Amino acid sequence: MVILQANNIQYKYQDGTHALRGVSMEIEQGEFLAILGPNGSGKTTLLKHFNGLLKIQEGEVLLDGRSLKNYPSREVVQRVGIVFQDPNDQLFAQTVREDVAFGPMNLGLSKEDIERRVEDALTLVNMSHCADKFVGHLSYGQKKRVCIAGVLAMKPEVLLLDEPTSGLDPAGVTHLMRLLQKLNSECGITIIMATNVIDVVPVYMSSMAVMYEGTVLHEGTPENVFSKIEELEEVYLELPQIAQLMRLLRDKDKISMEKLPLTIGEARKFLIQKLNGEHVVRLPSLNVSKEYS
Ligand SMILES: Nc1ncnc2c1ncn2[C@@H]1O[C@H](COP(=O)(O)OP(=O)(O)OP(=O)(O)O)[C@@H](O)[C@H]1O
Ligand SMILES: [Mg+2]
Repeated sequence: MVILQANNIQYKYQDGTHALRGVSMEIEQGEFLAILGPNGSGKTTLLKHFNGLLKIQEGEVLLDGRSLKNYPSREVVQRVGIVFQDPNDQLFAQTVREDVAFGPMNLGLSKEDIERRVEDALTLVNMSHCADKFVGHLSYGQKKRVCIAGVLAMKPEVLLLDEPTSGLDPAGVTHLMRLLQKLNSECGITIIMATNVIDVVPVYMSSMAVMYEGTVLHEGTPENVFSKIEELEEVYLELPQIAQLMRLLRDKDKISMEKLPLTIGEARKFLIQKLNGEHVVRLPSLNVSKEYS
């Protein structure tokens, strides 16, 4: 079932910048979608259309088949949550608990319900131990988690995230991606994430869209989209690092492979099969075949 649909959206900022030039997209319920593209290609502008933050100028956005124009904005904000790139643009209360409670309080819930939602959301992002801390005293990564908790406390059906991994350390990136994967697969939340971290896309995401100068150039599964290497290079999009290595092995070292592995797991599986199978990997200059035969 399609949960969100963009029909030919065009958007011009006040200074005349034509940020979106006819974007159409369908997002299935339960999808985990990455939006990639160079700086200024329109990712943030598009995300802001999906929950009505930017007023639609041309085209339309449908939530459950109904135009956003026909929804009370309060309902849209509850059903489609957004996490901004910079947590300082999102957090405003004094303490973590107060900040996460803000959304549920606006839903008119009872005190007990609000407390439960805050506790549950903070537990999900591993931040319950900081509930009474001052927001201003949190580290950058902790602030990001609190922003996500604030949105989760609204129990959204769709979660929009703008570059959520920026500023996180490597372990923080893995932790966040696993959390998002869990929210997607176990809680059924549809996730749309603008990102420039290409490596995480084939590992966690079910689909991806590539934007360039306000349009969507490619859409599909990571396997599909990353198979169009030359076209992606034209818009300066690189392959995941492991795929770049496998591509070198295929093209320079002439190791045949049906399709390019995109993740470390796929590459490992492929190499083990090669090493165990009749086609032993032969890298004459390195003499790897001898070692393994
Ligand atoms: N408030 C604004 N006023 C004028 N132009 C804007 C405004 N916000 C964004 N733009 C312009 O719109 C275009 C798309 O910007 P957008 O922020 O959507 O890109 P992006 O893909 O999210 O980029 P990044 O990867 O840097 O976050 C850019 O040319 C940008 O300069
Ligand atoms: Mg952006």
